[in-house]
Amino acid sequence: MRRPIVAGNWKMHKTAAEAVELVEGIKSLVAGLDVEIVVCPPFTCLETVCAALADSAIGLGAQNMHWERQGAFTGEISSDMLLAAGCSYVLLGHSERRQFCGEDDSLVNRKLACALQAGLCPIVCVGETLQEREAGRIEEVVLGQVGGAIAGIEAGAASAVVWAYEPVWAIGTGVTATAAQAEEVHAMMRHFLAGHLGKAADEVRIQYGGSVKPENAAELFAQANIDGGLIGGAALDAGQFAAIVKAAL
Ligand code: PGA
Repeated sequence: MRRPIVAGNWKMHKTAAEAVELVEGIKSLVAGLDVEIVVCPPFTCLETVCAALADSAIGLGAQNMHWERQGAFTGEISSDMLLAAGCSYVLLGHSERRQFCGEDDSLVNRKLACALQAGLCPIVCVGETLQEREAGRIEEVVLGQVGGAIAGIEAGAASAVVWAYEPVWAIGTGVTATAAQAEEVHAMMRHFLAGHLGKAADEVRIQYGGSVKPENAAELFAQANIDGGLIGGAALDAGQFAAIVKAAL
């Protein structure tokens, strides 16, 4: 059985003081629940949030990292720095980074190889735009991103990846994919992964992301191939985030 995983992507929100307030609220609401829970605050709050999480089972993740372990890369953050700050997870290839920061599949591939080597659990985001969906290119785009991310990575290592299917048109828009639309793509991804990983694909977790709210989470998470969610806007509210976590039970 796959253990559901719900992660909060805080994006560019929360100072360190605000982050502690949010995480204290989340902690008190989700204690003891049998769901893998992760929060991904901005880099500047990682150490503070790590300290606040010391007495909790909630995991800490970053929203991005560089593909080299160190070097002359002004403004960048390495996997070793994330580990030292207390991270166990890292988001890679989020659509906002693909869209606004020029990240492509080969860059995501290099970051993924680095994260796996460092021992971080990567959450790799994939998803099609509305234009691509309407042009009937969902499979080509999504599976292209999945295949591109794991290209050249040995199957044993690639099995440790958590995936997040996030249709770009559903992110921050209030428009969620229907449970059936999401399940169709998740099943497609798992079938594709089975071609690379064999039986291990049955154990791989695939989150859904894009306007997940307490009202729609239960139906999405009830689908056979949906193993939790990657939550943006609703992760900034302790009550909403906790309600979504409970929907994954
Ligand atoms: P949203 O964001 O929940 O605000 O749509 C999801 C994400 O970008 O990971």
